Amino acid sequence: MELIDGLLARRTTNGPFRPDPVSREHQHLLMRVAQAAPSHFNSQPWRFVLIENPATIARVADLSGQSMTELIDAGVFFERYRRYFRFSEAEMDERRDGIHIDRLPGPLKPFTRQVFSDAGLKLMRQLGVPKKLGEDNRKLVAGSPLLLAALLDRSEYRPGELSGFYSVFGLGAAIENIWNAVGELGMGIQFVSTPMEIPRHWEELGRLLQVPDDLELMAVYRLGYLPDEPHRPAIDWSSRHRKRLPQFVYRESCAQPEEE
Ligand SMILES: Cc1cc2nc3c(=O)[nH]c(=O)nc-3n(C[C@H](O)[C@H](O)[C@H](O)COP(=O)(O)O)c2cc1C
Repeated sequence: MELIDGLLARRTTNGPFRPDPVSREHQHLLMRVAQAAPSHFNSQPWRFVLIENPATIARVADLSGQSMTELIDAGVFFERYRRYFRFSEAEMDERRDGIHIDRLPGPLKPFTRQVFSDAGLKLMRQLGVPKKLGEDNRKLVAGSPLLLAALLDRSEYRPGELSGFYSVFGLGAAIENIWNAVGELGMGIQFVSTPMEIPRHWEELGRLLQVPDDLELMAVYRLGYLPDEPHRPAIDWSSRHRKRLPQFVYRESCAQPEEE
């Protein structure tokens, strides 16, 4: 049951990590569990870069924070992702998906629901929210002792072909193994996704990591050991809800939702 309990307890870490370096033993263990994942014809199309160099981490952090500020300031973030936002526990309880922004600084609280309107965006700019969110994100990444870049072999990753789908599927399985294993090691993990939303920042990241032509940079994560007292960022969300069985499982055909 321990494995099942671990899978059910897996989560994303939104807050800071301890500054201590991640032991080489743990880093290699995470790489071993990653490569235990299934892949089409055992092609193992994944590649990883383990990043501990403080100068590289600082630059990735700058790119991440800057991307966050740009995305929020231009309204792109909320435009792109508004459908995932929930504003109350009741809404979350009914849909059972998406993310509930349950922690906001005082002055912003009364305006939570207006965050997607033009007026809401204007107010956020006036209150300096894009800069604040970018800076918080930069600090989170900069304070992480380990970054992990996930790449795919481009001879396998051919978007539009089945092989492209299989490669992404296999990389997802490898990442999920890491995501499941970190808890056992007292560690946490979070996607550093904002730079990939802004092509010029993503390209810079590729150059920073010296990604060769035969590899495609797919994702970057931050990892580290968890502090004893978890610290929640000033703007934070919870996403522990999961759909009920009839909301996502069918019996025999898609015509018959599974009973709870
Ligand atoms: C493809 C993908 C993209 C994600 N992007 C982000 C992200 O940009 N930032 C982040 O903090 N979490 C990201 N996550 C994590 C999800 O937000 C998280 O898994 C979800 O809200 C459920 O929360 P949990 O992982 O704590 O159970 C991503 C997860 C996946 C699979």
